[in-house]
Amino acid sequence: MIKRAEESGRLSPGQTLIEATSGNTGIALAMAAAIRGYPLKLIMPSNMTEERKASMAAYGAQLIEVGAGAMEEARDLALAMQERGEGVVLDQFANTDNPRAHVEGTGPELWEQTGGRLTHFVSSMGTTGTIMGVSEALSPKGVRIVGLQPKDGNIPGIRRWPEEYLPKIFDRSRVDEVIDITQRESQECMRALARCEGVLAGVSSGGAVSAALRVSAAVDDAVIAVIVCDRGDRYLSSGLLSAEAGADDPAPVGVAEHLSALALLGTAHPGPHYVYVSSGRYPDDHPEHPNEPWCGDCRRSLPAARAAVVETGGTLLVVEAGTREEWKGNDAHPLRQPLREGCTFGLASVQGLPTLLRWGASPTGGGAELARCGPELEAAETEADAARIVGEFIESTKGLSL
Ligand SMILES: Cc1ncc(COP(=O)(O)O)c(C=O)c1O
Repeated sequence: MIKRAEESGRLSPGQTLIEATSGNTGIALAMAAAIRGYPLKLIMPSNMTEERKASMAAYGAQLIEVGAGAMEEARDLALAMQERGEGVVLDQFANTDNPRAHVEGTGPELWEQTGGRLTHFVSSMGTTGTIMGVSEALSPKGVRIVGLQPKDGNIPGIRRWPEEYLPKIFDRSRVDEVIDITQRESQECMRALARCEGVLAGVSSGGAVSAALRVSAAVDDAVIAVIVCDRGDRYLSSGLLSAEAGADDPAPVGVAEHLSALALLGTAHPGPHYVYVSSGRYPDDHPEHPNEPWCGDCRRSLPAARAAVVETGGTLLVVEAGTREEWKGNDAHPLRQPLREGCTFGLASVQGLPTLLRWGASPTGGGAELARCGPELEAAETEADAARIVGEFIESTKGLSL
């Protein structure tokens, strides 16, 4: 946006930039303005996290705060300041150079990196620049465009805009489906991403991934890209990611979701891919094993599986499939769900044992179990035994591919 404004003569050296932001564009602008020597005034709702405010200040931007959650007020103030001749507003909500970055960058990158196999694109909607741009680039290629908006509450960066504040760059006809996402669902998924997948992301990213999982549950053979648009470390001071947060969250995402993640990973990493399923976790309040999350079989074999897979240069997805108490006799548990067509993985194959699977990710994003060892792992009496069994399993499955 800055470059184009310079090229068109709208912006010239020494002028002050003004922008309303929920944070991330503001931080990026602060960096760019520092490089190009523009003074910058950023207008932001007061409830945005301290990390955002501190990052902007670190780049030398001046911060003006408006009411909590008041993005509309921030946008009005930016334009009023421009009216009064106090500077130039790039206006990410109306500036066609915002989506253009995604027409020229994000869209083609996704298409290229999925080898032209992308079927769905999921993005949260704030300025709608991301979704508008990617839609322009990829709708003509048949990619289904899914946007999400908050159903309630306050999810930084995205908004259910009243009609008069709908971003001027937004064209509803370019979005095939809009999903409403709650603040709670977004926060839960954000924590699950950090705690189960090692991805520390922001709240709207949690909402987007949750929506993508919904999409993936409804379609087969899809390749879904979802935008994780900011990092979780910008939310640490909010407490949402603290050790105590999320005590009421549901159990970590189910097996099916893990496997779709792995199938997607398969399109980005050549593998080999392995899945370790632990179906032998102890409940936290187990009378005999209060501080041992996993049964002895898993404690012996998981480190061995980790070490061996790291050595192959492959990927290992660890699925914690709940405690025995949770799934035994419980037909609603994910481990007991019927399998999707073409998918051979489930309780029937795991049978309550710690199990190592060799997993194949097909080019269309689907996946299938190629081989497994369970009873052998359970029989291992020492870690050395487990390491030998894992080693033999990896060796014997080396040549397998879908
Ligand atoms: C945290 C966060 N989520 C979502 C979005 C939405 O992206 P877009 O503005 O391209 O719609 C933004 C945009 O700045 C954001 O900062």
